[in-house]
Amino acid sequence: MGCSCWPGSSSKRSGEPTNKNINKKNDISCNKSKHRAQTQASSDELRVGAYETVRKEEVSKNDQLSVDVKKLNLGDEISKDGKASKRAQPFTFDELTAATGNFQSNCFLGSGGFGKVFKGLLEKTNQVVAIKQLDRNGLQGIKEFVVEVLTLSMVEHPNLVKLVGFCAEGDQRLLVYEYMPLGSLENHLYDLPPGQKPLDWNTRMKIAAGAAKGLEYLHVKLEPPIIYRDLKCSNILLSEGYHPKLSDFGLAKVGPSGDQTHVSTRVMGTYGYCAPDYAMTGQLTFKSDIYSFGVVLLELITGRKAIDNTRERSEQNLVSWARPMFKDRKNFSRMVDPLLQGQYPVRGLYQALAIAAMCVQEQPNVRPAVSDVVMALNYLASQNYEPSNHVHSSTAMTVDDDQKLVAEHELDSC
Ligand SMILES: Nc1ncnc2c1ncn2[C@@H]1O[C@H](COP(=O)(O)OP(=O)(O)OP(=O)(O)O)[C@@H](O)[C@H]1O
Ligand SMILES: [Mg+2]
Repeated sequence: MGCSCWPGSSSKRSGEPTNKNINKKNDISCNKSKHRAQTQASSDELRVGAYETVRKEEVSKNDQLSVDVKKLNLGDEISKDGKASKRAQPFTFDELTAATGNFQSNCFLGSGGFGKVFKGLLEKTNQVVAIKQLDRNGLQGIKEFVVEVLTLSMVEHPNLVKLVGFCAEGDQRLLVYEYMPLGSLENHLYDLPPGQKPLDWNTRMKIAAGAAKGLEYLHVKLEPPIIYRDLKCSNILLSEGYHPKLSDFGLAKVGPSGDQTHVSTRVMGTYGYCAPDYAMTGQLTFKSDIYSFGVVLLELITGRKAIDNTRERSEQNLVSWARPMFKDRKNFSRMVDPLLQGQYPVRGLYQALAIAAMCVQEQPNVRPAVSDVVMALNYLASQNYEPSNHVHSSTAMTVDDDQKLVAEHELDSC
């Protein structure tokens, strides 16, 4: 039984496969010339481009993989108690073909660097799932598949997407996830189809707080802790009530241990989200994820993409555009997403921008630890903002904010 009988999948996310998302996640160092052509003015971009020498230190893919697997110690766990295999079961290719009605186009949800994603219905359990099929010609491959299965088999948190199972039959590689009915955060921030309501302020803060909690679990609660390396809007999936869950752990790395401050690795990730220090040196730290988180938070606040080549050059890189604006709070009302139509708390906006500004600082050691980010965002998400009935035009918004600012006096916390 396939999924063709299900109503309600949005027109944006179903239908014929497109190449929209393909090839976004890259070995950044290998793609530097393409990116340079796209965003010459960005300082971050130049740093990404300057990374080349670090590749020489690269550990071979297979060596690194076996190191990671050993550290995760998952093999023992599977054989001793069967726990991991219970969490992520093996499926046959036939089962997944049946679940998706032979991967038919009306089950298509989207595609990324790994391959296409289809909605499916598992016959045995009647569970609705999302099935990701490795594109054998794609940028990502077997390593990402293995790391994804290993990582997701050992994690469990309400803000991390669940891996239901996998298929590794012949040269087929598929991943089976819990289905996230609202798709990715990217679908709710950009290029909204007519009639789709933009996310309101409270929902944005709730998503930011939930995503931070998922990251906190990886950084401080998990043993050994993990650096995610691929935090971005398209990897924050949303279940009912806009509950966020982090997905895609194919690039995850076991964090530094003992006296080590970083892990040396080839620079991977998504352009626009990658911390400049990591891009320059290949030294991956937990603070690399904090930078990416800051970019996501900026996207939530501003409604601007991390990289947007349709904008004028000085505004193409979100962080490069935002950094000078952080210096003067008079700019803040101009930074907020116009789709909010002025419906946001001024104090909350200041605080959210202050958190984002701290996260995207150049120096990794002055970026906050994830637990501090969680605490700050939990507070912001708990401050329920009641929108007024009056919807502002974007020009009225600035004037109105200035008045609100005077009324609210000085804001100590910023
Ligand atoms: N578990 C899921 N439930 C529902 N939809 C999903 C699920 N996983 C992925 N999708 C959909 O499939 C799309 C493609 O996801 P995928 O992770 O392959 O690519 P991406 O995140 O856009 O890029 P990248 O390969 O760089 O991670 C997502 O944007 C989302 O709309
Ligand atoms: Mg993804």
